[in-house]
Formats: sequence, structure tokens, C-alpha cells
Amino acid sequence: MNFGIVGCGFIAKKHVAAIEAINGAKLVAVCDKFEEAMKPYIKEYGVKGYKELTDMLRDEEIDVVCICTPSGLHAPIAEQVADAKKHIVLEKPIAMTIEETDRIIEATEKNNIKLAIVHPNRFRPVVQELRSILDSGALGKISHANCIVNWNRNQEYYDQAPWRGTKQYDGGVLMNQAIHNLDLLLWFMGKPEKVYSMEATRLRDIEAEDVSMGVIQFESGALASVQASTTVYPRNYEESITIFGEKGTVKIGGQNALYFEHLDIEGYSENYINNLKDKVRAEPWGIPGHQQIIRDLIDSIHNNTSPSVTGVDGKNALELVIAFYKSAENNQPINMKEGILQ
Ligand SMILES: NC(=O)c1ccc[n+]([C@@H]2O[C@H](COP(=O)([O-])OP(=O)(O)OC[C@H]3O[C@@H](n4cnc5c(N)ncnc54)[C@H](O)[C@@H]3O)[C@@H](O)[C@H]2O)c1
Repeated sequence: MNFGIVGCGFIAKKHVAAIEAINGAKLVAVCDKFEEAMKPYIKEYGVKGYKELTDMLRDEEIDVVCICTPSGLHAPIAEQVADAKKHIVLEKPIAMTIEETDRIIEATEKNNIKLAIVHPNRFRPVVQELRSILDSGALGKISHANCIVNWNRNQEYYDQAPWRGTKQYDGGVLMNQAIHNLDLLLWFMGKPEKVYSMEATRLRDIEAEDVSMGVIQFESGALASVQASTTVYPRNYEESITIFGEKGTVKIGGQNALYFEHLDIEGYSENYINNLKDKVRAEPWGIPGHQQIIRDLIDSIHNNTSPSVTGVDGKNALELVIAFYKSAENNQPINMKEGILQ
């Protein structure tokens, strides 16, 4: 599989490293409006550089395009790539609106190409273990969950590029950072029914929110609280999800949600629990998430199956973010069953 990348900024590095690490995957081209951004890749990997996406999309050598541009440009670029019949690895968030998201999904279906959304945290060893625990039913009926992202993104981070922190191209802590955790929450807890939230822009000079708090009621009846911020002094403090079930309590956490911080399940011996914790601690990151997402997409192309994280998964996470935004804006609960406004 030959890869092209559009958008050669911060996250493109992870895509390049992932492609390089996969047998049978090769980076053949990069594209960026800003020529300087392409130079390191052209020099190091001898790949082609395109200033215009339309030119890169004419390159018949390319099978898959990784889209790593600012979030507000995901939709028009993904539609163009789909129409050129190249498979897509699309960075999160899938897009900024539901309408844009539907257009992306429609374009990929119409052109019969695969679309994988980069929510790589699903592949973290601790997350996979928690997913297995939930699948086994060991926690019994789920009562509620907590989802926390208390991180630091300082003003310099937002000042790096004009798109950061804007509502049109980036969004705030929910759309940019905590969307990964909302994706996990949905994966663990099922469909959301109702959302109530408040948000603020407290410490950063940006248009979107730097703090958000909210409550979700799921279709199962279970509840979850969400707390997300990029205002924490002086560095990332906590990323965690805790699930409270009738027969067990599990918290995955740390500065990044990489470890079992608490694990207490009826019928699990102390020895078994310690082994599980140690197993995760031995290799907390596992195989890098971007590598897993790209390898999974290649498999889905070869086997004509769905990638593990689909466009619909990306849409579900985005819908939840938008429900939080709408609730905060209107100061009222949002019933997600009735469908979110655009
Ligand atoms: N999955 C993750 O963990 C993760 C982490 C960071 C960022 N991201 C996502 O990746 C995307 C990019 O973020 P970043 O931090 O790399 O941004 P960045 O600003 O560092 O890089 C964006 C690049 O896109 C280029 N670009 C802009 N418009 C373009 C166009 N029309 N055509 C071609 N190139 C264009 C810019 O010149 C820049 O080089 C965002 O959607 C962000 O949310 C995901």
C-alpha cells in the first residue's frame, strides 16, 4: 500500500513513523500548502512533494491518503480524496459539523473506499483490557462512570497556528483533546440519550472553551460525568475513566489513561488483579496507536471489511461533542434521541 499525507505538521510525524513501521506500507508523497513543512520528508524519505492536493490526487501510485490538516478542513479534503478513489486515514475530529460528516461518509460509500478515523486510544493495552472486562459481564449492571481530562495546553500552544482554539477550525478542549475520551466512553457505555453541560473560557486567550463539565445519561439508564480542561497548572494532571458496576469498580488513569489505578471486581483474586495491573504496566503504550489504526485500515482493504474505527464511530463522538456545545450554549439539556442540530 502506497501512502500520501496531506498536512505536514505536528501529527503527520506520527503517521510517517507508523507507515515506516508497517511491512508492506510505503510513504510515496506528501502535500502541504506551506512548502517548508514538506521539505524534511522529501529529504529524508525521497518522497514526492505536492503543493496542491489536486496534483497529489492525480498520482496513481497512491492508494491511501492520511489527512492531517486543521480539523475545519477535514471535510472538503476528505471528499476530494474519496472522489479520487483513494482510501482515507482521517485525523480526529472527523469534521466540525454533522452535515460535513454525513458528506464525508456519503463520499466514501459512493466511491467504495475505506475510511478510518484516528481514535487510537482504543488500542491502548489498558483500554483493551477494560473492554474485555466489560465484554465478560464481570462488572454486572453499570451504575455510572466518570471521564476526566485535566490537561495543560498553554497559550504558546494555541498561538502556534491561527487555526488553534477557533470554533470554525479547531474547537476547544472537548473537540480537540477530550473527543478521544468521549469516544472511549461511548465504546464502554453505549448510546447516549441526554446531555447537560456548562463550559467556560477561563485562562486561555481563545475563542472556544478551555473548561467543560457535563453529565450524560445513556440509553441503558447509566450516567456519566465529564470534566475536561486545558487550563491545569503547570502540566497534564489527569486523564482517566472510572466505571462503577454492581460487581466491580475500575479506574484507568494517570497523566494519560494508561494504567489500572483501581481494579476491584467480585470473583477476581488479588493475584489475578495484580497480574493484570503488572501486564499493563510492563508496556503501557503498546504498539503505537497510529500504527494500529493504519495497519487495521490496510487489513480492512485487503479483506474488504470495516476498519475498527469507522466514519460512524467518528460521527458518534462528534455528535456527543456538539450536544455538549449546544447544551452549554442554550443552557438546557439536549435529547440526543431527537437528533442533534447541525
Ligand atoms: N490523533 C491525535 O492524537 C491528534 C493529535 C494532534 C492533532 N490531531 C489532529 O490532526 C490535525 C492536524 O493537527 P496538527 O497539530 O498536526 O496541526 P499543524 O498545524 O501542526 O499542521 C497542519 C498542517 O496542515 C497544513 N495545511 C493547512 N491547510 C492545508 C491545505 N489546504 N492543504 C495542505 N496542507 C494544509 C499546514 O501548513 C500544516 O503544515 C487536526 O485535525 C488535529 O485535531 C490529532
